Amino acid sequence: MERTAFDLVIVGGGAAGLRAAIAAAELDPDLTIALVSKVYPMRSHTVSAEGGTAAVLRDYDSFDLHAQDTIKGSDFLADQDAVEYFVAHCPQEIIRLEHWGCPWSRDEDGRVSQRAFGGMSVKRTVYAADKVGFHILHTLFQTSMKYEQIHRFDESFVTSLILDGGACTGVVAMNLRTGTMAAIQGKATILATGGCGRVYEFTTNGFIKTGDGMALAYRAGVPLKDMEMVQFHPTCLPGTGILITEAARGEGGVLVNKEGERYMQRYLPGKMELGPRDILSRAMIQEIKAGRAFEGPYGPYLGLDLRHLGEKRINERIPMVRELAEKYMGLDPVHELIPVRPGQHYIMGGVSTGLKGETALPGLYAVGETACVSINGANRLGSNSLSECLVFGAACGLAAAEFAKKRPSYPRGATAREALRKEEARVFDGLLGRERGKETVAGIRVEMQQLMERDVGIFREESALADACGMLAKLRDRFAAVGLADKDRVFNTELTAVLELDFMLDVAATIAHSARDRHESRGAHSRTDFPQRDDANFLKHTLAFRTDGAPRIDYLPVKITKWQPAERKY
Ligand code: FUM
Repeated sequence: MERTAFDLVIVGGGAAGLRAAIAAAELDPDLTIALVSKVYPMRSHTVSAEGGTAAVLRDYDSFDLHAQDTIKGSDFLADQDAVEYFVAHCPQEIIRLEHWGCPWSRDEDGRVSQRAFGGMSVKRTVYAADKVGFHILHTLFQTSMKYEQIHRFDESFVTSLILDGGACTGVVAMNLRTGTMAAIQGKATILATGGCGRVYEFTTNGFIKTGDGMALAYRAGVPLKDMEMVQFHPTCLPGTGILITEAARGEGGVLVNKEGERYMQRYLPGKMELGPRDILSRAMIQEIKAGRAFEGPYGPYLGLDLRHLGEKRINERIPMVRELAEKYMGLDPVHELIPVRPGQHYIMGGVSTGLKGETALPGLYAVGETACVSINGANRLGSNSLSECLVFGAACGLAAAEFAKKRPSYPRGATAREALRKEEARVFDGLLGRERGKETVAGIRVEMQQLMERDVGIFREESALADACGMLAKLRDRFAAVGLADKDRVFNTELTAVLELDFMLDVAATIAHSARDRHESRGAHSRTDFPQRDDANFLKHTLAFRTDGAPRIDYLPVKITKWQPAERKY
């Protein structure tokens, strides 16, 4: 019989989850660890990260400079103690991955190469060509396999947390292959399920990024922090949303409008194409509004020009950019412009945690894009997120393992059995039992995605945000009438889609409500009706709590250590 009680349960098999699992396993060979993922770990979204991961490795750089760039990039909403911890621990993670076999790109002299990225003052981004996520994920996955104590539950979808006496004691998960449910008990549980990009229509995120971990924590009473802070990446392929890495600009690529002008000189002459993403994405929308964009079958777009880099450099440094442009746009960037437009890419907000991933619920931890620790504040700098998964993955894995070791016995079996019975009734008798009627999962999902794109996008204002809040509440009501055509339990992707939409509706509401209530512009949150940053009233984190109705919004002070908020000038 499969084991179902562990010291540590980790939900998510991407960079953050795997790094946490390895840290915990290294700490104690007797610690039992469950790694539960709704996909095979190598299909986690980390695999699609492209351009690099940040760390201070050279004499020309310093921890203070990395921290200062990150905090300024965050528009001073990052917690500075978290940023200081982060920058000081990035280098050791890069070296650790090197020792585990990650094939970092090299300079002629054999040293690990570093490239320029947006908002960073020096070349700080470590890379493995432009397949960084693939190589990191491979390295972590293979390393995790050394530890027999890590027991994998691949293709298992977590539907709820088990709560016992005011603590989290594991999860209930559905095995997608067999269509059966199990309670997986843990003395400590880590949520590392990635972000929630699929609440938007146009996104670089894979289909699996549906905010599962965020919704699980939220439903258990843990607040979601800074959910209004949504990042739009400026260079995505029109039509598909596939990411064209910022490394293309780091290597010297430039952005042009239909007049052939490097339009960033109008918006950010000091940094041009290597400004932070929030500023570049807004500039693109402004170019489109001014009628200076190209027009294509998928609407207006700008051009990314790599032609001057030459074939050799493109092939060596950013081969996947060429491959993606050829496969998905039918053009060769060695000779032609790549059409690009902004798309949702990342969320700075997430489950509110302390420095080691601990949440307000004893026994529950969160890390990676699922969490908001917070180092990214109102705008993340490119290449800080993979490093965040590594640094805080390790810290969280250790902290959760220590917590588990201190818990004297396994959680009570009766509570787990009751939680399992309830989930089986909710999912199989309830959701799966509903007959297909007027409402479909695809219909409601598309409406949600379109309204988030339209009303909670790059530029925002009160009436659209208020409409979005109202519309999301209506979609939540209509969701109750969604029926399923497929009644099978084995690999029922319609059922999984319903469970994911249920999570996304919760998460989308926290984004819209948090955005509506922040009456200022800061980083990625750009309000046309409140165009200035307002430190007097909003130098604070938003917290969204679940209620029976709309999310309840509250606030938390930002932690400032050395860097006083100043105007963000580049
Ligand atoms: O453009 C990119 O390669 C994205 C990197 C990131 O989001 O950190």
